[in-house]
Amino acid sequence: MLSVAIDGPAGVGKSTVSKILAKKLGWNCLDTGALYRAIAVACKNNKTNINDINEVDKLLKKIQISVNFENGEQHTFVNGEDVTNFLRTKEMDMLSSVTSAYQNVRSSILDLQRNLAKQQNLVVEGRDITSNVLKESKNKFYLDASPQERALRRYNERLSKGEDANFDDVLQDLLQRDKNDTTRKIAPLICTPDSIKIDTTNLSIQEVVDLMYNNIKLS
Ligand code: DC
Repeated sequence: MLSVAIDGPAGVGKSTVSKILAKKLGWNCLDTGALYRAIAVACKNNKTNINDINEVDKLLKKIQISVNFENGEQHTFVNGEDVTNFLRTKEMDMLSSVTSAYQNVRSSILDLQRNLAKQQNLVVEGRDITSNVLKESKNKFYLDASPQERALRRYNERLSKGEDANFDDVLQDLLQRDKNDTTRKIAPLICTPDSIKIDTTNLSIQEVVDLMYNNIKLS
């Protein structure tokens, strides 16, 4: 099976670009952040103390995360319950930043990610896809953009959804998540030497997609 592995910091536009790219290829797209968010939702629903690794470990033994794709849209489940609509909130931004730093959490969803990529051609995006999950992929990309540009994109996205947003708060959240993602001991976000690095600061979504598409090896 073929894969495209994409890593990059929060707010860089990975999800948007990955979905368009997957559509162009006729493949599905796996948003791996959704898996860490689903575990965060499970912690909240089970009143698990997210800062206590032992409590999180107990919970992991009781839950199963799964994914399916309906008309190209990813649905993420905890014990068979579709939690997709609860994943993209400010609270889950922060809670998933905590869950994703735990080794036991990462190990619990590693096989799921690899199995999905074994079953079908897949675009996979996250933080450790090029460095760990799909190390062997022939198509690796690292997307980047300045923190200001990424915060602006998030801020505009929130406003367009009719949500309240304050640019400085969005920027501070983003800088905190960058710090968590890049400095954690386990599977930190890095740009691997064999990834094509694209600075998207001054590029349109379509320009980024085209640049990636033109560099993908399909054999
Ligand atoms: O991409 P996202 O914002 O939905 O990711 C949610 C959290 O999970 C974020 O803190 C980064 C983390 N994450 C990770 O550690 N590894 C991945 N492959 C994907 C996301």
